[in-house]
Amino acid sequence: MIKIHALVALPFVTQVVSHFLVDDEDGRFTTPQITQKYGYQTEIHHTETSDGYILEMHRLSGSPSSGPFDREKPPVLMMHGLMGSSADWILIGPQNALAYLLSDRGYDVWLGNARGNRYCRKHAYLDVDTRRFWDFSWHEIGTFDVPAMIDYVSEARRVPKLHYIGHSQGTTAFFVMTTMLPQYNEKIVKMQALAPAAYLYHLNNPVLRFLATHLNTAESVASMLGINQFMPAPNMMNQLASAFCPYIFNGQYCVSTMFLLSAGKYQNLDPKIIPVLIGHIPAGASVKQFVHYGQEVLSGHFRQFDYGVENNTRIYRSPVPPDYNLTNVRAPVVIHYGLQDQLTRPADVVRLARELPNLVELNQHSDPSFNHMDFLLATSVKDTLYNRIIDSMKGE
Ligand SMILES: *[C@@H]1O[C@H](CO)[C@@H](O)[C@H](O)[C@H]1NC(C)=O
Ligand SMILES: *[C@@H]1O[C@H](CO)[C@@H](O)[C@H](O)[C@H]1NC(C)=O
Repeated sequence: MIKIHALVALPFVTQVVSHFLVDDEDGRFTTPQITQKYGYQTEIHHTETSDGYILEMHRLSGSPSSGPFDREKPPVLMMHGLMGSSADWILIGPQNALAYLLSDRGYDVWLGNARGNRYCRKHAYLDVDTRRFWDFSWHEIGTFDVPAMIDYVSEARRVPKLHYIGHSQGTTAFFVMTTMLPQYNEKIVKMQALAPAAYLYHLNNPVLRFLATHLNTAESVASMLGINQFMPAPNMMNQLASAFCPYIFNGQYCVSTMFLLSAGKYQNLDPKIIPVLIGHIPAGASVKQFVHYGQEVLSGHFRQFDYGVENNTRIYRSPVPPDYNLTNVRAPVVIHYGLQDQLTRPADVVRLARELPNLVELNQHSDPSFNHMDFLLATSVKDTLYNRIIDSMKGE
């Protein structure tokens, strides 16, 4: 009999003096409540997509240290990852989180939110608890949500172009947009891709690989988890979230599981932010987003949703879904990736980089232990990554 009594506590966290300026209560606040609390001039904006989803954006239009944003600089749109929200960019607090650093340097910062997360549960004519509301993947986030937010920001500011920063699914949606609607390339000054998720063939998280193999339709996920809608019930969200450990943090249980499973690989995480994380991740997503990623893991393609031969033929006029044609991504892209990222593996990122026609830089993070969530959370992330991103945006 195997005894697992050694699996207690959080033995792998190196105790360091925390330099994050966050409070536990930030886990109970919304993004605008938090940014306001730290003295950032905050605005809430709404825009409706052409298919009726009402999206909420959070804007930092002034910083406590540098005042109102600089009109000479292009605005910045920041887009979160799977199950995330606008809060992803402010979790580690002032003086460290990227949204604050950009605001302090005079940027007009817009934090986007995708349909289905906690800030985007309204629709012009669909009820939030209907199957139709939840029938979307990141394909729709890329073809409807991101374009709607870009249009909104450029109209609000009367500027033709903006900076785009995406993490994980925030990059997937960008590549979907620029391949399907290539005219949006012209609206981008430069795109910063953090842990870009297009190819996922080398994903090496065993739990996720198992899920991808066994749950390859939204219906199979729903029936396994005992629900009959696309809408994720809270307990199902938790099951999916714990499956996504260490990618997703789901309460104390998941966080400690994460430390145990990753045995030392999370030395970059400051325990002080755990109560904040728990309050903001997961922020909601549809079942179809997971299933679509699972299909990419198995197929090795970056392509549209697979509905099965019969329905693919009806929808795409082809038995297999069409690939997203990366030749169409003409916007300049800077890629940042980590060697210990279990989801967006270096081999898949390098393949993406080779296929992008306008890649400006391919930056492998200098810390060999850098992983998928470190792009938002690592204690060192300001010095080792964000300063570099800010330099790369300068003068553009
Ligand atoms: C094809 O789509 C129809 C209508 O959405 C659905 O009822 C059917 O189950 C699908 N067929 C397969 C094989 O998935
Ligand atoms: C991809 O797009 C490029 C440029 O628009 C085009 O020349 C090429 O034929 C496309 N590839 C496929 C497989 O459709």
